[in-house]
Amino acid sequence: MTMTSPEPLAAARDYDPFMPLVIEGDPTSLYAQLRRETPRLFLERYNAWFFSSFEDIWTLSKLPGLSVAGGITPSQLLLGAPANPFMVSQMDPPDHRLYRGALNPLFTASAARGLEQAARHEARERIAAIRAAGGGDLLMGYAGPIAVAVGCWLSGLPREDLPQLMRWTNKFFHRDPDRPGDTAVGAEAGVEFIAYIGEILRDIRAGRREATGAFAALIERQRADPAISDDHLIFIVLNLQIGAGDTVPKSISAAFHRLWENPQERAKLAADPALAQAAFLEAVRLDMPTQMQGRTATEAIAYDGIVIQPGQKTMLMFAAANRDPAEFDAPDAYRIDRGNRRTMGFGNGIHRCLGVHVAGMEGMVAIEEAMAALPPYTVDLAASRTHKTEYVKGWANLMVTL
Ligand code: HEM
Repeated sequence: MTMTSPEPLAAARDYDPFMPLVIEGDPTSLYAQLRRETPRLFLERYNAWFFSSFEDIWTLSKLPGLSVAGGITPSQLLLGAPANPFMVSQMDPPDHRLYRGALNPLFTASAARGLEQAARHEARERIAAIRAAGGGDLLMGYAGPIAVAVGCWLSGLPREDLPQLMRWTNKFFHRDPDRPGDTAVGAEAGVEFIAYIGEILRDIRAGRREATGAFAALIERQRADPAISDDHLIFIVLNLQIGAGDTVPKSISAAFHRLWENPQERAKLAADPALAQAAFLEAVRLDMPTQMQGRTATEAIAYDGIVIQPGQKTMLMFAAANRDPAEFDAPDAYRIDRGNRRTMGFGNGIHRCLGVHVAGMEGMVAIEEAMAALPPYTVDLAASRTHKTEYVKGWANLMVTL
């Protein structure tokens, strides 16, 4: 990503996930310093461990004594923002099993293939407009609409509301560089988004709208299990729509940026278009949007020479894991044919990303269609912007000229 790289820290314990250098710049070199000097950093002030090596994060993601019920975001775990017990990403078993069981069938590899033609149609229309204009914004004008449309088909929200859904999605994780954590702008978007989903649910109940996607699957489950509340339905749909609409556009845009920056990789893709999905997944690895998510220890956990005490937080620094030289050869290079078996791009363990197949399909479609339709493009770095945040980093706009 083209952001300023901060100076090395005098000591690893000077690291702070909310430091302006992390929020406004590119924390890659800080993560490398942490991995090298203190891959298991404990910061008293947050009562939290920060893990930055691939192997630790891979293993800890699977440990049962680490709970998501206290929240998973840096704001929740480190600044005390409330957890959300209705989101599947913040549920422990057995609830987690129940809701994943209802959702998993909508997110299989074959279900993702079932959405491919519709995603292609969306992609072709959008890329034709960018081509006709001689350039444009590959995030807001292309990757974003594809991802939000696919999110609608999965969640059951109306596709015609796409522009409004994009606005809420883009504001949801809004940050103020001068004040760490969630902001009033993000909270307001969340409140409006939730009210809107509640309205759709009322329309479904009143027979004014047909239930589709996750809505239909959850309403069906609710009939059999009254413990499933309307808040569960609403927040799970929100979780899916945000999950779908935020990370995918950033990663697709990251792939377009990296392909432009690395002409030899672009040539490989031109010679073998079957590498489109790999080009996307390599961008997820290199420019991992979700910097970190965490857990809270519910019991004392003895792990490889350290003890994580009950109540302590464990921050899993995915973005650092994905560039660990112990796991990836030349980790800072964008190589679309590296073919690694393991990645932390989509997490690991029971909370591994529900949307992994869908994301792979979208990335493949978006890259294939753009490569087929566009002449060589130049990224206009001066006109492109990145999100200033500690949490889900990446492009906010990716302007290209043809
Ligand atoms: C490039 C795209 C994506 C990336 C990088 C990504 C990343 C991740 C990661 C790292 C996790 C694990 C979090 C943890 O361990 O706490 C996760 C979970 C999740 N993702 Fe994704 N994701 C992507 C796309 C999607 C899509 C398209 C959807 C939905 C349509 C989605 C929905 C979810 C949900 C619901 C969870 C929580 C799963 C659970 O807790 O059981 N994601 N994602």
